[in-house]
Amino acid sequence: MPLDYQPILLPNPGRTTAVTLVEYEARGGYAGLKKALEKTPDEVTAVVKDAGLKGRGGAGFPTGLKWSFVPKMPGPKYLVVNADESEPGTFKDRDIMEVEPHTLIEGVAIGSYAIGCELAFIYIRGEYTVAGDRLNAALAECKKAGLLGQPSQLKKADGTPFVLDIIVFLGAGAYICGEETALIESLEGSRPMPRSRPPFPAVAGLYMRPTVVNNVETMANVPFILDKGVDAYKAIGNPPNNTGPKIFCLSGHVKKPGNYELPLGKITLRQFIEEYGGGTPSGRPVKAVLPAGVSAPIIHSSQLDAVMDYDGIKGAGSMLGSASFIVMDDSVDMAWAATRMVEFFRHESCGKCTPCREGTNWLEKTMFRILEGKGKESDLETLQFVSKQIAGNTLCALGDFATSPVTSSLKHFKDDYLLRIGKKSDRAAE
Ligand SMILES: Cc1cc2nc3c(=O)[nH]c(=O)nc-3n(C[C@H](O)[C@H](O)[C@H](O)COP(=O)(O)O)c2cc1C
Ligand code: SF4
Repeated sequence: MPLDYQPILLPNPGRTTAVTLVEYEARGGYAGLKKALEKTPDEVTAVVKDAGLKGRGGAGFPTGLKWSFVPKMPGPKYLVVNADESEPGTFKDRDIMEVEPHTLIEGVAIGSYAIGCELAFIYIRGEYTVAGDRLNAALAECKKAGLLGQPSQLKKADGTPFVLDIIVFLGAGAYICGEETALIESLEGSRPMPRSRPPFPAVAGLYMRPTVVNNVETMANVPFILDKGVDAYKAIGNPPNNTGPKIFCLSGHVKKPGNYELPLGKITLRQFIEEYGGGTPSGRPVKAVLPAGVSAPIIHSSQLDAVMDYDGIKGAGSMLGSASFIVMDDSVDMAWAATRMVEFFRHESCGKCTPCREGTNWLEKTMFRILEGKGKESDLETLQFVSKQIAGNTLCALGDFATSPVTSSLKHFKDDYLLRIGKKSDRAAE
């Protein structure tokens, strides 16, 4: 039975046009911002911290804690929204920006107030031109209504005017632009190559000034928290570690792919695939699930009773990440699927650090050799060895991501490799 749940991030499932300012205000929009401005910036940060909101971009870092790292020094500070959304199978931020642009803008306004930012950026992947146009239209509505600007017509708790402009920036398109320091480089006009840390962006980010980078969905959670309060937010999910709603993207071998906004921690992976996704179109059993695009370990079908939240997916040996679930039925050769994922990472590696640049190349070459039927059993050890040399030894997490499909497919689906190298017979084909 699908859950009895009223979505708050995408309250109009199936809608394809943007919600206007008039519509948004009619359903209580911008009340969260007005309530936030009655508090001090530190109080706003404390509310977001108490709500337990975790970043929805991948790493799940606590949002209020991230805001609290911004030093209280004079001079510009920036909030940058990560709308790069380049992870395969991920299309949730697009829906928020295209249909609910004001929810994002309100979240950005609240976050900017909390960290003392007067100029924020929304960095959108270049292909999302519709989202960019709709956000610009929504920003123009806000300026006309006096909600944004230098200054706006709103007053802060200290009696001074609230000042904020938001710039929409379209990137040129590369997976690595989603990594926060590469994104900052790109925004500054440089090649998008990750920076070494420390310093972290909270201290020295955009133009070497204190900067918070947050995902679109993360920011879209903020207005509800400020408007309805911490308890109402926590009541939605599975506290203490898994509070609030989450948009789960569903694709691959399911009858009904799409975005599903659900409370964290209330259903299992099996329920999600069967009750929301309608099961596999072929009727064949599920063989594997990717829970976070292609960036986290592949989940074996024996783990389908895992609960859909940060802890549940971790318990199944993977990571919730961006919560982009790609389902594969038992017709899929996992040696082939993992090779396609490695090919993606080799192509998207920025090349700045040696283990990732050279390692992804070696992984890809070895895996293609296996797919072509020219592999040896020792190649499987080589794949493990190269993965070990990459993981944990790179400037950014792309290197780790690239090893996940390799090590997890070898762990759960070694037979698919052995078939390719002639060390096992395909009983189904006999
Ligand atoms: C290779 C790579 C790609 C990433 N792509 C995205 C992305 O498309 N969108 C996103 O929000 N975060 C992405 N991230 C995570 C960001 O670096 C950053 O952690 C996130 O934007 C922080 O926002 P959050 O705390 O709200 O989740 C990526 C990270 C890596 C290493
Ligand atoms: S891990 Fe890969 S993508 Fe990340 S900085 Fe190094 S070479 Fe670039």
